[in-house]
Amino acid sequence: KEIKLFCPATIANVSCGFDVLGLCLEQPGDEMIIKKSFTPGIQITKIIGQDLPLETEKNVAGVAGLALLNELKDFKSGFEIEIYKNIKPGSGIGSSAASAAGAVFGINQLLNQPFSAKELIPFAMQGEFLASGALHADNVAPALLGGFTLVRSYEPLDILKLPVPNQLIATVIHPQLEVKTADARAVLKHTVPLKKAITQWGNLAGLISALYTNDYDLLARCLHDEIVEPLRSVLIPGFNEVKESALVNGALGSGISGSGPSIFALSKDKITAQKIGDAMATTYKKFEVDYDVHVSSI
Ligand code: HSE
Repeated sequence: KEIKLFCPATIANVSCGFDVLGLCLEQPGDEMIIKKSFTPGIQITKIIGQDLPLETEKNVAGVAGLALLNELKDFKSGFEIEIYKNIKPGSGIGSSAASAAGAVFGINQLLNQPFSAKELIPFAMQGEFLASGALHADNVAPALLGGFTLVRSYEPLDILKLPVPNQLIATVIHPQLEVKTADARAVLKHTVPLKKAITQWGNLAGLISALYTNDYDLLARCLHDEIVEPLRSVLIPGFNEVKESALVNGALGSGISGSGPSIFALSKDKITAQKIGDAMATTYKKFEVDYDVHVSSI
């Protein structure tokens, strides 16, 4: 028995929702083939596309898969995983989450779904912990549930699936630089001035309301981040220019995707999203860094 999966990229934070808000892209994504095996545990048999460790304990898919298997009482066999990696590690569009979520989703399918999609999230988070040293769920939750998700609470874990306004399109430019999530977390401050916190939770609450009411103007007013983005944007060459080029070309908002270096913009239709992608690319040409651009539904 085997299963072939598409493991989607995700945008975490979405400006005002650091560590709590995320969305799932239709593309790009990885592919994965998972097979049942008589050997207990998880074997990563092949990784194509990126140079990543095959040792189970050092691989995010391996660690997430083991976390799931450890919850099963009488399961004596195991699984083999082949990973076809299109999403580069350190890209800011949920590379590790795609592997972790894909592994637990596929294994759960082959076991006839002992766990719900939400119950898989804590296992996938173990993969994220290996990759970044932080147990964050804002990439694995949208990868497993689709659309927008909100981590209402980490302890206890409480995750909500949110509606997606039907015209919303994401544009992502991915500069070919690696920013490790752990490094991008190390630049953050541990306290937030009350005034900034007020602005941020007002924006986050407004953004959630906009998703329920398809209110694109409200969404545009809420897509800001005064807490994390100013500290991290210095790690991304050309960030301010690219963001500005997205906004002047019709984006509802633009910001750092996850922990960067990818930069995302949201817009209301494919033509605008494509125009934003072209403008971001033209702007980026000045910075002598290669990049690729993705336009995707959510
Ligand atoms: N919320 C996490 C962070 C996402 O911004 O560090 C990492 O992809």
